[in-house]
Amino acid sequence: MTTIALLPGDGIGPEVMHAAASVLQRVRPDVECIESAVGGAALAQGMPALPDAARAICDRSAAILFGSVGLPEYDGKPLAQRPEYALFLLRAGYELYANLRPVKVFSGLEDASSLKPELVRGLDLMVVRELTGGIYYGTPKEQRVVDGIEEAVDTMIYRAPEVERIARVAFELARARRKRLTSVDKQNILETSRLWRRVVNRVAAEYPDVELQHLLVDNAAMQLVHRPGGFDVIVTENMFGDILSDEAAILTGSIGTLPSASLGTRGEPGRRYGLYEPVGGTAPDIAGKGVANPTAAILSAAMLLRHSLDDAESASRIERAVEAAYAAGARTAELANGGAALTTGAFTEAVLERL
Ligand code: NAD
Ligand code: IPM
Ligand code: MN
Repeated sequence: MTTIALLPGDGIGPEVMHAAASVLQRVRPDVECIESAVGGAALAQGMPALPDAARAICDRSAAILFGSVGLPEYDGKPLAQRPEYALFLLRAGYELYANLRPVKVFSGLEDASSLKPELVRGLDLMVVRELTGGIYYGTPKEQRVVDGIEEAVDTMIYRAPEVERIARVAFELARARRKRLTSVDKQNILETSRLWRRVVNRVAAEYPDVELQHLLVDNAAMQLVHRPGGFDVIVTENMFGDILSDEAAILTGSIGTLPSASLGTRGEPGRRYGLYEPVGGTAPDIAGKGVANPTAAILSAAMLLRHSLDDAESASRIERAVEAAYAAGARTAELANGGAALTTGAFTEAVLERL
């Protein structure tokens, strides 16, 4: 039997993850789902952010369906005592280095974007974010007092093989899409970026059919809102990818529509071990109200089916149902523009009806 680990987490995490799990179970009733507390939900019970029990379930699962973690009450605590530490450990522990964040504007939602509809109509791009290196994981990483003065350090470090493997993932994706890859760095100032650009150029020699361009990150941030349609696949390091993917998300009208897959080295194509989660966070401002948009979580479940359960057919079924729900006018509050809004549950029902 195929087992999936369900890690709901905090805030809207449980609300949207349960919506996604119900869609997943509808298309694949044979899949067993085992739930476990992580993040603030675990910390509140006196456990670490990633309890051994959760880790054990992940170990024997084919993939992880994740909600989101993080609560304002933990602000100011050191990383190891924060809900987000669960994600930090899972990504590193399973070496989930390739974070795919597909950005698509659903037909009918063009008006919901903060950009002019003609700029985002039919938009379809993919952010490939390196997820287990760079400034998130480099050491030293600490706060300290030196000569009576408080200071803090984070270390940005990349090794060539880390850049090479994420570049290869991005080139392969671009090859299967519109064959255009944009590599984003800050090579005018950062040593890590100069290494990044050199290695990406080296890998490019293996992909003569893919058109490669390099952009500095500040310019890339601007181009994303200036001419988003010019992008196909974007590949970038961990922190730039975090920032640019939220920016890209809002082109669709809501970060609540953006799914993600974090894939590693375990397994083979179609049966890769991975973690699937919305790009957005726990949304404390709307948590507990039942109004969160479950689209990102539902589409994350579709990515899970495609990349970890080798079931592209069920994945497409879910994606088509979500598109059909939007085409029929289904909207959660943040996209309703003052019009009729569906709750998380009612939107999920609108998707289930169209499977
Ligand atoms: P956020 O993404 O939680 O929220 C930003 C804005 O987007 C809010 O206005 C929120 O209401 C809205 N939003 C997000 N998801 C939505 C959805 N599904 N439907 C409707 N609206 C949605 O970002 P934040 O407020 O900066 O972070 C809150 C907490 O979440 C922090 O603790 C942060 O660390 C955590 N976080 C976790 C993850 C994750 O688990 N992968 C990702 C990002 C942030
Ligand atoms: C994301 C989130 C995480 C990140 C946080 C919660 C650690 O913002 O997945 O985009 O920065 O990677
Ligand atoms: Mn983020």
